[in-house]
Amino acid sequence: MIRTAALAILLASSLIANASEEAKVKADPAKGKVIAETVCVACHGADGNSAISANPILAGQVEEYIAKQLKNFKSADGKPAVRNNPIMAGMAAAVPDEEIPNVAAWFASQKIKPAAAKDDKLAAEGQKIWRQGNFKKGTPACAGCHGPAGAGLPAQYPRLAGQYPEYTELQLKAFRAEERGNDAEKVMRTIAAKLSDAEIKAVAEYAAGLR
Ligand code: HEC
Ligand code: HEC
Repeated sequence: MIRTAALAILLASSLIANASEEAKVKADPAKGKVIAETVCVACHGADGNSAISANPILAGQVEEYIAKQLKNFKSADGKPAVRNNPIMAGMAAAVPDEEIPNVAAWFASQKIKPAAAKDDKLAAEGQKIWRQGNFKKGTPACAGCHGPAGAGLPAQYPRLAGQYPEYTELQLKAFRAEERGNDAEKVMRTIAAKLSDAEIKAVAEYAAGLR
């Protein structure tokens, strides 16, 4: 019994080691850079610092999160894409599956240009939700998953620090309306359902100023 268990643990840990080595071998940011400079540059900038708020900043985003979104924008096996966006559907289709880790590694390794919150009063309201959530409504603190400084947590939670507030607002409203449904276990849909328009604006403004 004990021996079988030990063997199982050994097997499992070597599998994990193999999987992470494989991921490391696969991701080549230099290859990803070529795609960034030819395909993504028009909207996200070659270094992921998008010039306009309609296009999210990718610089410094969590690598696994970028890769997941690119997969989610693609329709697979004749099923509609789990993250539905007409612009990114076309763009993601242009990235072959084996290039996804490379392009994710490229943008993740880029430095985000720091921005500041423009509206301090609004950001202060957002800070409360970020740090404490809203106990009465059962809204959890964003910091619990996205980190106290919004840096995200590899591999599961995306970075929100420094993102355009308009984009963050749009995504929270999309989760709330269940138009975006690619969050596992409905985690963000459930949270966004508890946020008012005013709370969404405030927390998006606060996250924009985090660094
Ligand atoms: C024509 C403009 C355009 C181009 C070119 C483009 N994107 Fe996008 N991208 C967008 C827009 C707009 C969104 C926001 C979609 C939404 O609102 O859901 C987006 C979203 C994303 C996201 C999700 C970010 C997040 O925080 O969830 C990723 C990842 C992404 N793009 C990667 C890429 C990559 C990689 C390329 C190049 C292969 C690329 N994009 C090319 C416009 C573009
Ligand atoms: C229990 C963990 C958890 C908590 C708490 C949480 N989030 Fe998230 N959030 C996630 C996960 C996981 C995703 C990625 C979903 C996916 O795979 O696309 C995400 C994605 C997001 C996105 C999309 C980012 C992008 O680049 O498109 C936004 C915006 C967001 N969360 C805002 C918030 C805000 C604001 C709060 C606090 C009110 C919050 N989250 C609390 C887990 C959490």
